[in-house]
Amino acid sequence: MSGNSKHIHRSAWRCPSNIALVKYWGKRDFQKPMNPSLSFVLQNAFTETSVELHKNGDQKVAFYFDGKPGTFGERIEKYLEHVSGKLPWISKYNFAIHSQNSFPHSAGIASSASSFGALALCLTELDFAMSEKDAGTPDFWKEASELARMGSGSACRSVYPGFALWGQTQLFESGSDEFAISLTAGIHPVFEGLRDAILMVDSGTKSVSSSTGHRLMDNHFFQRSRIAQAYENVNELYLALLTGDLSKFIEVTETEALSLHAMMMTSSPSFILLKPNSLELINRIRRFREKAQIPVCFTIDAGPNIHLLYFQENELDVKAFIERELIQFCENGKWMEDRIGGGPERLMSVSGSEIRNTGKIDLNSQPATRKP
Ligand code: PMV
Repeated sequence: MSGNSKHIHRSAWRCPSNIALVKYWGKRDFQKPMNPSLSFVLQNAFTETSVELHKNGDQKVAFYFDGKPGTFGERIEKYLEHVSGKLPWISKYNFAIHSQNSFPHSAGIASSASSFGALALCLTELDFAMSEKDAGTPDFWKEASELARMGSGSACRSVYPGFALWGQTQLFESGSDEFAISLTAGIHPVFEGLRDAILMVDSGTKSVSSSTGHRLMDNHFFQRSRIAQAYENVNELYLALLTGDLSKFIEVTETEALSLHAMMMTSSPSFILLKPNSLELINRIRRFREKAQIPVCFTIDAGPNIHLLYFQENELDVKAFIERELIQFCENGKWMEDRIGGGPERLMSVSGSEIRNTGKIDLNSQPATRKP
């Protein structure tokens, strides 16, 4: 960035949500994962956030959601206090933060991933400007990912286009528990056409928060085997992504979704988040795959909604299948179309009407170094 960029006191970003294929479930230390996870970002589900710094007024954080004073101010204030250990300039300013989501809260999409992703990107841009660091380097994305992780673990995977890996593994020297890395290099082109139809089973509030959920792994009887399984699944899935092995992709993705729920069902206390209609959808997706010989599968977050994954070339058949067989099991027939996305975008403004990409930061500077 140019020399006078240190005078920037405003930043705005759009950041997508992501859906994990290998699930992060269980924490250690501060927001570090018990196991590695692998996800992809969505295209249509995102948060737009602007951060403005000022020195007047006595309110540390004024937070607006959809243009109105929002309820997350306190959580953000705590978060800023925490990250001020890394970004000391935070203590010198008051913050006006505007945020809006492209999807309804009830959609069962992880809004914490896109929200903390967007906020972390704004803070990173401000930090790079203040310290006159070059924002067009991989360090920019590493810092954004790490700051996002400190807000919500899975958010660290939202700052990259396409697939991302979070956690130290045998696969990448650059892999870390502190930030995610991009997995765009070498991925088989079939995955550019990855689609996600989010089938809404129940829009009610979750009966278990993710922080409660993660804690369930602390003394879980299956903890060691779950961690071992996730390591193995990350390896297998990554290989499938490189080779375009759709059977493996399907096998790992479904095993992971069901393992996440198996962990919840067998923890103490135990939670069953799947609903009868979730199971009906799972069975019908599997039956369709067998009968039609079309590569479809499902993944599930910590809730009852089902993400039906499929590929662009089968779009017509899959949409007809959704209309014919699946929407009857969705709440009010609701489902949302999404796809693998291109990652975050820098914006001019969020609170005003003008929202556009300024394109000043090199969005292609997120390489992942593969181990030889
Ligand atoms: O980032 P958190 O603390 O909301 O945890 C997310 C956990 C899952 O969504 C269930 C899995 C994942 O890897 O995203």
